[in-house]
Amino acid sequence: MPLEILGRMYEKANREYYAIGQFNFSNLEFLQSAVEAAEEMKSPVIVACSTGAIKYGGIRNLVNLTRTMAEKCSAPVALHLDHGTSMDHIKMCVDAGFTSVMIDGSHHSLDENIKLTREAVEYAHKNGGITVEAELGRLGGIEDDIKVDEAHACLTDPQEAVRFVKESGCDSLAVAVGTSHGAYKFKGAVKIDFDRIATIKKLLGIPLVLHGASSVDPESVAVINQYGGKMKDTRGLDAESYHKAIRNGINKVNIDTDLRLKWTAVVRKTLHDKPEEFDPRNILGPARAAVKEIIKEKMKLLGSAGKA
Ligand code: G3H
Ligand code: 13P
Ligand code: ZN
Repeated sequence: MPLEILGRMYEKANREYYAIGQFNFSNLEFLQSAVEAAEEMKSPVIVACSTGAIKYGGIRNLVNLTRTMAEKCSAPVALHLDHGTSMDHIKMCVDAGFTSVMIDGSHHSLDENIKLTREAVEYAHKNGGITVEAELGRLGGIEDDIKVDEAHACLTDPQEAVRFVKESGCDSLAVAVGTSHGAYKFKGAVKIDFDRIATIKKLLGIPLVLHGASSVDPESVAVINQYGGKMKDTRGLDAESYHKAIRNGINKVNIDTDLRLKWTAVVRKTLHDKPEEFDPRNILGPARAAVKEIIKEKMKLLGSAGKA
């Protein structure tokens, strides 16, 4: 089917309390993994490009690949801009055919964030009814080239969120509730403010988004280190964290790091096990298959499997 507007996918997810996975990509293989997983799991899927991914893959290439794969898929596929930070990013992606965009003004003051988000909403809604995600509060970790240390991260304030959504008109809101981007999320126990999610959901009612939601699978990390990698001991979200977050109102869960880790683990192992191999298809093929399996697992965990 043609690319789906993300807002349409949200209607059912919000009503039935499940989340749709956002899977980031910048190349052919990750996109194939996500769309094939959607087909096999009968799950809606969001495939997303950061501005860095767009720079790497080329916007026309990425949009056309996604359109072509979505056409052949019987489950709905939305193409989303992850962490756009300016109107130039929003216009570029809306004009190119994305069906959802994120405007991330979380590094600005509240008033400036509202103003920028309002502008993005006006443009996206008027040009094809494209869905807009905004962010309030600030996650720790690394986004593109911006590193936010823990001292500058701050959780979303529920009352500010009410004013923010009313004045900006955004369709969905990314909330900062304790997660962070990248492989190094928690020191010790997983700490997520589930009550904050519930409070914000009660006040707003709109779809809420959880960024920095990878599990940081210890097995992938172990394989990476076994075959020459150098990753520190780390952990991410467990199955119970996903369930609790979704029960309290999260409808979109962003996953990038888990795919990268699995991909790296399989590529490292393949190169080690087959030192004579130099055909990229035989090196990338097994990684593509493994990434697809991770995505299928996530679709089951998030409750989107069978919802297409
Ligand atoms: O939120 C960040 C995403 O994982 C995108 O990462 O900017 O390196 O493509 P990237
Ligand atoms: P992870 O780094 O936990 O995969 O989060 C990705 C993300 O939030 C993309 O917006
Ligand atoms: Zn993010």
